[in-house]
Amino acid sequence: MASSDASGLVGRRVVLGISGGIAAYKAIEVCRRLVDAGAHVAPVMTAGAEHFVGRTTFSALGSEPVQTSLWDGPNPIPHTSLGQTADVILVAPATARVLAAYAAGLSTDLLTNTLLATRAPVIVCPAMHTEMWEHPAVQANVATLRARGVHVVEPESGRLAGGDVGAGRLASPEAIVAAVERVLGGGRFAGLHVVVSAGGTREPIDAVRVIANRSSGKQGYAIAAEALARGASVTLVTTVDLPVPHGAAVRSVETAAQMQEAMQELAADADVVVMAAAVADFRPVRAATGKIKKDGGVPEIVLEPTPDILAGLGATKPVGQILVGFAAETSDLVANARAKLERKRLDLIVANDVAAPGVGFQHDTNAVTILGRGALQCTVPLADKRTVAVAVLDIVSQLRAETSTFDPSPHHRSLTP
Ligand code: CTP
Repeated sequence: MASSDASGLVGRRVVLGISGGIAAYKAIEVCRRLVDAGAHVAPVMTAGAEHFVGRTTFSALGSEPVQTSLWDGPNPIPHTSLGQTADVILVAPATARVLAAYAAGLSTDLLTNTLLATRAPVIVCPAMHTEMWEHPAVQANVATLRARGVHVVEPESGRLAGGDVGAGRLASPEAIVAAVERVLGGGRFAGLHVVVSAGGTREPIDAVRVIANRSSGKQGYAIAAEALARGASVTLVTTVDLPVPHGAAVRSVETAAQMQEAMQELAADADVVVMAAAVADFRPVRAATGKIKKDGGVPEIVLEPTPDILAGLGATKPVGQILVGFAAETSDLVANARAKLERKRLDLIVANDVAAPGVGFQHDTNAVTILGRGALQCTVPLADKRTVAVAVLDIVSQLRAETSTFDPSPHHRSLTP
C-alpha cells in the first residue's frame, strides 16, 4: 500500500538484508515503513536473523516472500537477480559478522553473496554490543566499507539487550528510511541549506483568541522532506505540530512577526528559501492581556497590516539564492501570481487555486502552476503534496544549474516535472 504522501521511494526496489542481532525485530518496522512509502521491498534473512524473528513476518510485510538461502528457492542464482535488480541494498541490522564478510569480500550466505553481486548503492546499519562496536576490527571494517562508498547509518547510544547502556543500538526506523531516501535521491542538494516556512500564522486577539487561517502546513513539510531526500540540510520554520521529517532542524513560531524574525535570520545564508507558510495579512494592533469578556459588549478589534515577510526576503536576497513564494488565489490565478512574483522579486512562485476541490489548505493533495521569471510556466495537476514538492525542487535544481547564465526564453517554456 503506497502512502498518501508519495516519496522518493515509490516504485524503488529495496533489498532489505536482515542479519542476526536482537535489533532484527526493529527491521520489521523499517520494512513496514518502506512498503508504506511505496517501495518494493525484497527481504533477505540470514540464518542468524531467523533466531530472532520469523520468516513469516517479513514475507507478510515485504513486497515478496523472504529469501534465506542460495540453494532452496526456485531461482538457481538468487543473489545475482537480487543484486542486479536492486535500486538500493539496505542491511539492518548489520552484525559484526556481516560487516566483516562484506569488507573481506567473503560470500558465505545469500545476503553476503548479494552484497558482492551488485552495483547498487549499499547502506549498512550496524547494531551490536558497545564492546563489539568499538572493537578495532569492527571499526576497521566499517572504515573499509565507507572508503568503498558504502553508506553507514551509525548506531545510536542507548539501552542495549541485557540492560547495558552504550553505543551500538540500531538507528531509529525514521533515520534508516530517511537514509534510504537520501541515497536514492542521489545527493542532488548535497551541501545546500534549504529554509522552508510552513503553516498559518496566528495573531493574538486576547489571551485565548487568535486570528488564524486554514493552512495545514503539509505542503511546506513535503518540500522539507523532499529537500532532505536530495541531501540538503533543512530548517523548517513552522507554526504547526506535524511529525518533523527526519533530519530537519525546526524553529517553532506563532505570529507573523516571529516568523519574519526567524526567516530573515535563516535566509541570510540559505541557498534556497521556500515561503510556503500562509501569513496573516492583518493583526490586531493591540492584543488584550487577559480574556475579553462577553459582558463588555461586542469588542472593536482594530487591525494593522503585518510585514510582508517574503517581499522583505526578496529585497535582501543574497546573490545566487533561489527564493520561492506561494500564491493562494481564488481567481485570475496566473495573472495574480505573476504580479506577486514581480512585486516580491522572487525566482519562482507556486500558485494554487485554493477554491478548487482537493487543492491547497487542509488537503493532502494540491494542484499548482509554477511560474518563474520570463515565461517559465509549469502545471502540476492534482497530486499528493510530495509530488508537488518534487516538481518545485526539480525546477529549483534547473534554476541553480542555470543561475549565473539564466536567460529566460522569450517563448513559453513548458517543463514536465
Ligand atoms: N507572505 C508573506 N508575508 C505576508 C503575506 C504573505 O511572506 N504578510 C507570503 C506567503 O508566504 C506567500 C506569498 O507571500 O509565499 C503570497 O501570499 P498570498 O497570501 O498568496 O498573497 P499576499 O501577498 O498576502 O496577497 P493577497 O492576500 O492580497 O493575495
